[in-house]
Order: sequence, then C-alpha cells, then structure tokens
Amino acid sequence: RKPIIPYEEIGPELLSDLVDTFYGKVARHPMLYPIFPDDLTETARKQKQFLTQFLGGPNLYSEEHGHPMLRARHMPFPITYDRAQAWLECMAEAMDEVGMEGKIRDDFYNRLILTANHMVNRTTPDEEG
Ligand code: HEM
Repeated sequence: RKPIIPYEEIGPELLSDLVDTFYGKVARHPMLYPIFPDDLTETARKQKQFLTQFLGGPNLYSEEHGHPMLRARHMPFPITYDRAQAWLECMAEAMDEVGMEGKIRDDFYNRLILTANHMVNRTTPDEEG
C-alpha cells in the first residue's frame, strides 16, 4: 500500500490558507499578540515552510534557515503552558474555518499538541512557588 504523506493530502493551498487564518487569530489573541512582531508576514512565510516539511513535504524551512531547533528558537519568547494552549486554540479554530477535518486533521493536530507543549519554556506566574 502506498504510504500517505499528509502534505500531499492537504496540499499547499489549504496549508497556506490555514497558516494565514491562524496568524489572523494570533494577531488578535490577548495572550499571544504581545510576544509576536506587529507584521506577521515573515512569520507566516516561515511557518508555511516549516509545516510543509513537518507534514512530509519538501524541506523548505531547513533549506533556507537550517535545522529548525524549534525549542531553541522559541527560548527568547516567554511561552507558558497557558500560551501554548492559546496557540493550540487558535490552530483548532483555524482548522475549523478552513474546513480541515477527519483523520488528517486529527493526526496533524495531535502532533501540534506535542510540539506546542514542548515549546513551553517559562512557568505560568501563578504556578511559581
Ligand atoms: C516563531 C511563538 C508554538 C513554529 C515564533 C515566534 C514566536 C512564536 C513569538 C517568533 C515570530 C517571529 O519573530 O517572526 C510561539 C508560541 C507557541 C509556539 C507562543 C506556543 C506553544 C509553535 C509550534 C510550532 C512553531 C507548535 C511548530 C509546529 C514556529 C516557527 C517559527 C516560529 C517555524 C519561525 C522560526 C524562525 O524564526 O525561523 N513562534 N510558537 N511555533 N514558530 Fe512558534
């Protein structure tokens, strides 16, 4: 049986719509917009490259930027558990809006849950002892 490459099933147009819809939400989310640049054009461009390779497509991100080292690249930004959940909520809403559904969506989203939680690099202030 032919292995299914998620990127091939989703396609570049839907992935691009997803990322643009997602950053439209990030730009308005009270917990997220303060740590992002005002202009998200370049952020969205890099995220399209990254998710293309994350989903088994061509290595567009690494060809231009080198190894993703995502946790290290996120270290300058205070990512609490609550911010990771906010990021995931924006992504879930974006997936709904662009009509991503079924197993392809569930598998993709479940991988993003793991990656987002891995980005947590600060303690939520309330948890600090
Ligand atoms: C960059 C926040 C999770 C992929 C960034 C930037 C911020 C950020 C502030 C810098 C934007 C810029 O300077 O252009 C967050 C927060 C997350 C999160 C709050 C919550 C957990 C993720 C996840 C992924 C991801 C789960 C991948 C699936 C990226 C990529 C970049 C990026 C590829 C661009 C890195 C580069 O500059 O080359 N993120 N992020 N992020 N993020 Fe996240």
